[in-house]
Parts: sequence; structure tokens; C-alpha cells
Amino acid sequence: MHDQASALRDLASRENTQKSKMRVIAVTSGKGGVGKTSFTVNLALALAEYGQRVVILDGDLGLANVDIAFGLSARYTIEHLLSGEKTIEEILLIGHRGIGIIPGGSGVQKLADLERDKLRNVIANLGRLEKMTDLLIIDTGAGLGHIVINFLQAADDVILVTTPEPTALTDAYGLLKSLRVEAGDVPIHLVVNKVRSEADALATYKRLETAVQKFLDGSLNYLGYVYDDSFVGRSVMQQDPLGISYPDSAAYKCIQWIAGKVAGIYVHPPRQAGGVRGFLSKLLRSF
Ligand SMILES: Nc1ncnc2c1ncn2[C@@H]1O[C@H](COP(=O)(O)OP(=O)(O)OP(=O)(O)O)[C@@H](O)[C@H]1O
Ligand SMILES: [Mg+2]
Repeated sequence: MHDQASALRDLASRENTQKSKMRVIAVTSGKGGVGKTSFTVNLALALAEYGQRVVILDGDLGLANVDIAFGLSARYTIEHLLSGEKTIEEILLIGHRGIGIIPGGSGVQKLADLERDKLRNVIANLGRLEKMTDLLIIDTGAGLGHIVINFLQAADDVILVTTPEPTALTDAYGLLKSLRVEAGDVPIHLVVNKVRSEADALATYKRLETAVQKFLDGSLNYLGYVYDDSFVGRSVMQQDPLGISYPDSAAYKCIQWIAGKVAGIYVHPPRQAGGVRGFLSKLLRSF
């Protein structure tokens, strides 16, 4: 079992020698129904406004959600990719603003225990995806299942969504606890959804951050909040994402603000460390 796992890792690293530019963000929550899918879809739309090329992987094992939110309907899922029946180009749906959607379905479970002979094919397909994508956002579904944790471990960043409700907070803390144990130091960013005020959001963040510092010896980055806004529900009913149907709504404005921060995480200015300037600054610092 262990040999198989390390053989897979070897193969994966050999096939992927070129340094990856695509970044992976996993959106997750402790409790279900806190707004992950709505947030993911609209974050993608807002990031597209910043010129980012975004693909969403619908990693929720339950009902497919992301395609429906875009008013689309998936014919194939990642399962067809894993079985070799379809290519990434054939399963990828294209939504508003060129956002790509990979329907997960039950294929998500199979990703976790991929057989060696299938890995080469999956890597080849994901390699082609990488060339056309800046950001892969995974809507992980809720909870502490091992597939969710695997996604979180593999991501460059995790966005944890919660609401201010005590039960959501308790479950968010539970997730943070197992993340600390199993996913080491992946940066975790908090979004407080369905808030009535900025103070409401800050109080929620403080409560979690205090517990994380005190009991988990970790840290939690505050990414932002989204107002409780009836336009979110309306857009879901209309199967047209908020960012398209109600771009001026309070909730979407909040998500645009968060997207600006997320884009800032990934759009780094050129490094100053290189060339003559870098040489001189290091030289001068050493005196
Ligand atoms: N900011 C918001 N204001 C008001 N309603 C919201 C907001 N965000 C989400 N909702 C509503 O909350 C409900 C759950 O949202 P959503 O499906 O996005 O949650 P989820 O975390 O993806 O759920 P699940 O765990 O089942 O996948 C939906 O009815 C949605 O319209
Ligand atoms: Mg969902």
C-alpha cells in the first residue's frame, strides 16, 4: 500500500517537471449550507473581472451544484476523465466570462484512489488544463471526510467559509483542528458569510482566531465578509449567478472586494532580488 503511494508520487513529480504556475484554492466549511458554492461561483466571476483565468472543480460529492448555478448542465464528469473515456476538453463546461467548470460527481471519490496506469493520462489532461488556467478553485463540499482533507492538503491556499451562527463556528473550529493536524501549514483564510454588519463579521473572526491561537498554535488570515443579502437566494432560483444578475448587490460587492485581495495574493510584482539591483542591495545590507 505504501509502496504504491510512493510510486505514484514519483511518477507524478517526474511527469510534472515544469514549474506550475496554476494556483489551487480550496473553498471549504465545517458545516454544510453556509454558502460555499454561492461564494465559489461569484468569487470566480469577480476574479475573471481582474483578468484571472479561472476553472472551478466541483468537488462536492453530493448533488452537482456549480454547473446548475451557472445555468448549465453537466453531461460528463471527472469520472469520464479518470476512466479514459473523455478528455479534459470534453468534460470542461464553459460558463460566463469564460470560467471553466469541471463537474465532479462520484468521480471525485475515485480521484483519491487513482490507479497507477490511469495517473499518466490524468496528469496529461490536467497539464493541458494548467496551460489555460491561472487559478483552480475547488468547491470541496462540507465536513471532515478524507477526500475533503486531501483536497485541502493539496491546495496552495484554503478559504474557510463560515457564518456567525454558533453551530457553524463550532464546526469551523473542528475543521481547523483537523487541518492543523493533517495539512500542516497550508495558509487558511476566513470568509464570514451572511453577516448583518462588519462588526458581526469581525467578532466572528476574533472568536475563531483566539481559539486557533490558544489551542492550535496556529493562525487564521481574515479575508473578508459577505452580507446576508436576499439577492443571493434570488439568483440561485434564477440559475443565473449573482455577479451576472445582480452585480450591484451588496453581497457581490463584498465578493469583488475579497477577489481583489485574492488576486493580490497571486499577482506578485516582479522580484527585486535579481540582477544588479539585487546584487547591490545584498552587498550593501551585509555591511
Ligand atoms: N450571503 C448570503 N446571503 C443570503 N443567502 C445566502 C448567502 N450565501 C448563501 N446564501 C444561501 O444559503 C444557501 C446555501 O448556500 P450554498 O448552497 O452556496 O451553501 P453550501 O455551503 O455550498 O452548501 P452545501 O454544504 O450543501 O454544499 C442557499 O440557499 C443560498 O442562497
Ligand atoms: Mg455547495
